[in-house]
Amino acid sequence: MLKEIRVFAPASVSNIACGFDAMGFAIDNPGDEVVLRFTDNVGLTIKTITGDNNQLSYNISENTAGAPVAALMKDFNIQQGVEIEIHKKMALGSGLGSSAASAVAAAYAANILFELNLSLLELLPYAIKGEEIASGAVHADNVAPCLFGGFILIRSYSPIDIVELPVPDNLYCTIIHPNIIINTKESRKLLPVDVPLRSAITHWGNTAGLVAGLYKNDISLIGRSIEDVIVEPVRGMLIPGYYDIKDAAYEAGAAGCNISGSGPSIFALSNSLMVANNVGARMKDAANRAGLSSNIYVSTINKVGPKVLYKL
Ligand code: HSE
Repeated sequence: MLKEIRVFAPASVSNIACGFDAMGFAIDNPGDEVVLRFTDNVGLTIKTITGDNNQLSYNISENTAGAPVAALMKDFNIQQGVEIEIHKKMALGSGLGSSAASAVAAAYAANILFELNLSLLELLPYAIKGEEIASGAVHADNVAPCLFGGFILIRSYSPIDIVELPVPDNLYCTIIHPNIIINTKESRKLLPVDVPLRSAITHWGNTAGLVAGLYKNDISLIGRSIEDVIVEPVRGMLIPGYYDIKDAAYEAGAAGCNISGSGPSIFALSNSLMVANNVGARMKDAANRAGLSSNIYVSTINKVGPKVLYKL
C-alpha cells in the first residue's frame, strides 16, 4: 500500500483572449507541487506550505489544495489520517492558474494515494471545488487544462462538457509575469455583466477561429483569433504598460498576445522557439520601461498535465 506521493501540476493560460471562462491551455513550467501522506493522526491536516509568503490558509476548507482532498475523503469514506504539503512554485495572483495547479495536484495525488481510480473527468469537480475558494466563482478554464493537459474547451458547465483540442507541434508560448498581484476575485467584480451583441459576434467568431486554427495547424489563424473586446479593455488598465508590452510582442513576431487569466501575466503565441525567446526579451524590455520587474517563461504547450514526482 502507498504511504506518500508527490505530484507536480502545471501553470495554465485561461481565457485565451476570446474564450473567457471557456478555454485554456497548460504550459510546461512553472507549476506547483503537492505531497500527500498517510499519518497516524486523525483527519486531514495541512503540514507545510512553502513559496506563498505566508498568504495561504492552513484551514482545510479555505485552502485550494485542502478542499478537494477533504471532499474526496468524505465521498469515499477515507478514515486514515492524511497530511498535505503544498509547495507553491509560482506567485499567487499571477494569472497563471496558481490556485488551479495546487487544487489539481492535490486531487490527482489523492486519487492515486487513496486508490480511487477515478477518471480525469470524475476528478474535475473536486479540483473545481479548490479553484472556487480562490476565485469566488465556478470556472474550469485553468483547472481543466491543468488536469487534462493541452488546449481545452469547456463547451458547457451545466452539464460539464469538456473538449480536448489538438495542439500544433510548433506552437510556443511566451509568458511575462510582471511582479505585481491581481486578485482574481476582485478583478472579476469589475467586469461587465451584459455584453453588446456586436462584442458577442466578435467573440464567437474568434472562438470558432481559434478552434479551427488548432484543427488546421494554422498558427496565423490562431493568432488572428487572439482578440478580446470585452474583458481586455477592463483588465488591461490594471497592468502598467500592458499595451506597450503587447505591441513589443507583436513587433518581435508573436502570432497573438493577450492577458493570461485575470493577469498580470501576459501570454504570447509564436511559431518557433527562436521567435518565442525573442518575444520574451522584447516584452521584458517593455515591462522594464513601464517600471515593472518581471519573469519570463518560454514553453511548448503541455500535453501531459500533472506528473507523479515520486511514490513511496
Ligand atoms: N476565467 C477566469 C477569469 C480565470 O478570467 O477570471 C482566472 O482564474
